[in-house]
Amino acid sequence: MCAVFEQWDITSSVGLTALGVASARAVETDRADPLVSDPYAAAFVRAADSPRPLPARLEDTSVAGDGWFRHSRYLGVRSRFFDEYFAASTAAGIHQVVLLAAGLDTRAYRLDWPDGCELYEVDQPKVLAFKRTVLDEQAASARCRRHEVATDLRDDWESALLGAGFDPRRPTAWLAEGLLPYLPGRAEEGLFEVIHRLSAAGSRLAVERASIDRLATLRDHPLFREAFEEFGADVSQLWNAEPRRDCADWLRSAGWTAAAESAQQAGQRYGLPMDDPFDEVMGTATLLTATREHG
Ligand SMILES: C[S@@+](CC[C@H](N)C(=O)[O-])C[C@H]1O[C@@H](n2cnc3c(N)ncnc32)[C@H](O)[C@@H]1O
Repeated sequence: MCAVFEQWDITSSVGLTALGVASARAVETDRADPLVSDPYAAAFVRAADSPRPLPARLEDTSVAGDGWFRHSRYLGVRSRFFDEYFAASTAAGIHQVVLLAAGLDTRAYRLDWPDGCELYEVDQPKVLAFKRTVLDEQAASARCRRHEVATDLRDDWESALLGAGFDPRRPTAWLAEGLLPYLPGRAEEGLFEVIHRLSAAGSRLAVERASIDRLATLRDHPLFREAFEEFGADVSQLWNAEPRRDCADWLRSAGWTAAAESAQQAGQRYGLPMDDPFDEVMGTATLLTATREHG
């Protein structure tokens, strides 16, 4: 990749997917029994000039059968799972956090962080700029020391993270949520190699995974076509089907302990049976957590 790579904004290409996730979180937040409460998600949706207006409230989704409505439940499960991962990581004494492809994730603003916690958000420059504008308008203030790392994760993001002040001697809690399908095979493998290289003993990692084979079979699924129609963009065209190593196997071979739970299993733990056809599709996504016990 050349030094000057293409950039996408919040209403184009992969940037638009960040807005879609924010919309789902806004809808979930608006429910009587939300799995995640994100007070800023709706503001992102309203501020964006997206090709099609996305739901910012529960009533914006039509009926319970609506694809967006069901998508928001999956996003609720995924968000809750990773919120709990961060609570456990900081309780274990980790004070350094990296959100890879942070998008419009507002955990820096809505979760409790310990004193002295440093949090790094890595994403494309224009996505981070949009986020900053909206959060400034909302007078939001981060509950930790938040650092923006505007870079491309297919490029030399390791230097960008170190340049922003990241300290590889401190244990870190990493998150890759909603990212892997957009990366070429080699970039995904390189991502885990960099994480491993920068992880002191005691570091943790959480990853949302959907197998590439599985994603390929989803492209033409009627429920996904319906969701893309509502979204106004065929996100599946952004999914990269290049082969890549299984990241859990690779992490174990590099000395990490790794455990996985399906979204369906996590949903059951949260009292949300994911049992309609859309959920059966999304429920197979894997929520992986890993720990590096020794440096
Ligand atoms: C589906 S969104 C998920 C955002 C966030 N993790 C969340 O769950 O709310 C995907 C994000 O990945 C980012 N992304 C994808 N490929 C990237 C790359 N090569 N470099 C930097 N960011 C990337 C996009 O800009 C977008 O914000």
